[in-house]
Amino acid sequence: MPPLVFFLSSPYPLACFFVFLLLSASFALQPTLHTQILNCANGKAHACGSIRKLWWRTFCLKGFLELGPCCFDKLEAASLNPFDWKIQKGMLWPLLPRKFPYIPGTDISGEVMEVGKGVRKFKPGDKVVAVVNPFSGGGLAEFAVVKENITASRPSETSASECAGLPVAGLTALEAITKTIGIKLDGSGERKNILITAASGGVGHYAVQLAKLGNTHVTATCGARNIELVKSLGADEVIDYKTPDGAALKSPSGKKYDAVIHCAVGFPWSTFEPNLALNGKVVDITPSSASMLTFALKKLTFSKKQLVPLFLFPKGKDLQYLIDLVKEGKLKTVVDSKYPITMAEDAWGKSIDGHATGKIIIEF
Ligand SMILES: NC(=O)c1ccc[n+]([C@@H]2O[C@H](COP(=O)([O-])OP(=O)(O)OC[C@H]3O[C@@H](n4cnc5c(N)ncnc54)[C@H](OP(=O)(O)O)[C@@H]3O)[C@@H](O)[C@H]2O)c1
Ligand SMILES: *[C@@H]1O[C@H](CO)[C@@H](O)[C@H](O)[C@H]1NC(C)=O
Repeated sequence: MPPLVFFLSSPYPLACFFVFLLLSASFALQPTLHTQILNCANGKAHACGSIRKLWWRTFCLKGFLELGPCCFDKLEAASLNPFDWKIQKGMLWPLLPRKFPYIPGTDISGEVMEVGKGVRKFKPGDKVVAVVNPFSGGGLAEFAVVKENITASRPSETSASECAGLPVAGLTALEAITKTIGIKLDGSGERKNILITAASGGVGHYAVQLAKLGNTHVTATCGARNIELVKSLGADEVIDYKTPDGAALKSPSGKKYDAVIHCAVGFPWSTFEPNLALNGKVVDITPSSASMLTFALKKLTFSKKQLVPLFLFPKGKDLQYLIDLVKEGKLKTVVDSKYPITMAEDAWGKSIDGHATGKIIIEF
């Protein structure tokens, strides 16, 4: 039998075809990642995804070096926010997720491995805390690419885990307190009565501590089991949200609120209204269509009492401010629980349950 005929009649051609298929599939995957990396050059931060193998990493880095002002970080810790599972549940559709596969997670602590073009503030080996762009995702992966301008450095006096709690929750609390309500954190400024709902949660527990750095009287709501904790964070009055007064948001001492940082969800305007001072403002960090309507109505009728929806746009310098407060011992992260990345689903479930006390941390 001539060799060619022998070869063609054997199982080899089929085997070769399968090997060819396998190889092309693996090459087809490579450009996907590479394209993602290059997206960054167009000004978008993005994730490298979970790059488990060295050659993925090498490949990723090669593209990365051509990028704009981004840092390529190896993660040490991350934290979860309700935002993460709201994307999964489709609550932010059609805005997010933009494409699949989508790696969730925005809050990270890690070490800079490489820096892209134009990065001035960071170098390989620096410890950093950052916010991953949710449009590209990638906080729950071993490596992530983040923009320089939403990265802050982490001093050695602070831990990766406590700082991983800060980004979204801490920045939201900071934004509400300093920018929306106008409280000065050096304690100057006139005294304000404020209410913080869900003060035991991620945003709420930072909000209580930050508000108390300013000249404020803080009333807080939380579940009975967390009353002592919230008091220890500095709240002057704490109410159990399951009692009638708690449900009505009434201050035990009868104080009217100059501002409410509303970290719980729900509550119609009619619940806030009787508790507000003349120029009282409700900052709603989970704006619903009902609250957007109230916002518009209050604006259109020139009402003195206002409802303000808050959408966070994170900035590196604000994150640095929070990290410095942690370093000075003026702000702390209450850790609800810590999970290794291999148990991320359990952490995810814990966040969906909605009963975290402080932050849920994931460690790498
Ligand atoms: N606008 C933005 O950019 C932005 C940024 C960050 C967060 N958010 C939103 O803000 C909300 C809070 O976020 P988070 O991270 O703080 O959530 P979280 O940590 O999951 O909040 C859980 C805590 O809320 C408490 N809680 C629930 N319902 C309550 C109520 N009616 N009264 C008082 N306490 C209550 C729970 O206490 P129990 O366990 O005792 O029930 C638990 O301790 C979420 O909807 C999130 O999506 C928005
Ligand atoms: C960070 O830089 C990008 C462009 O590279 C810009 O679009 C974005 O608004 C900046 N963010 C902040 C917080 O300055």
